[in-house]
Amino acid sequence: MTTVAKAFIGLFWLPRFVCAVFPEEPGPLNFIPTEVVRRYPVFLGRPHHSSFRQEPLHIQRILQVNRTLYIGARDDLFRVELDNVVGEEMFYSKKRTWESNKNDIRICRMKGKHEDECRNYMKVLLSRQGGLFICGTNAFNPLCANYTGDTLEMVGETVSGMARCPYEPKHANVALLQ
Ligand SMILES: *[C@@H]1O[C@H](CO)[C@@H](O)[C@H](O)[C@H]1NC(C)=O
Ligand SMILES: *[C@@H]1O[C@H](CO)[C@@H](O)[C@H](O)[C@H]1NC(C)=O
Repeated sequence: MTTVAKAFIGLFWLPRFVCAVFPEEPGPLNFIPTEVVRRYPVFLGRPHHSSFRQEPLHIQRILQVNRTLYIGARDDLFRVELDNVVGEEMFYSKKRTWESNKNDIRICRMKGKHEDECRNYMKVLLSRQGGLFICGTNAFNPLCANYTGDTLEMVGETVSGMARCPYEPKHANVALLQ
């Protein structure tokens, strides 16, 4: 099996943990048995072996562009080079945090939403003209922006993600009208 295929299989292992927070979310389409997962690299959100494990990743979207994987999670976007997979784990080469601002979180909480829902879940992740187009739920006030593919920097302003991005963290389906 090629490294790409192995790497992908490793990634499918993660949604088991991700789904635990929002019980309404439909289960993953595919489960890989633990004994198989052990043989392939997994992504745990770390830059290298000696860094600490972080909190659960809440992976929402994965996009492969040539030999690079982009992983959209909760408040975090990762870039992983598939040619740099070392042993049992894939490490990110770049991480960019895109959180909801305090005001959006406050309004979301006032609407009675749980604090886990008032975060930025990246639901749309597209390759576009050498860069990325990303939309996040942004505490029920969805926003979209362009990002550079190499440094993961936001380019230009954010635009409203209404009708482009689902509001609800628990809904996995994407409506993209742009
Ligand atoms: C991916 O590879 C193709 C073919 O080599 C190349 O034309 C394209 O520019 C690459 N895309 C990116 C984003 O590097
Ligand atoms: C993102 O980039 C595309 C293509 O360059 C452009 O048409 C679009 O207006 C940009 N969107 C934002 C939000 O900057």
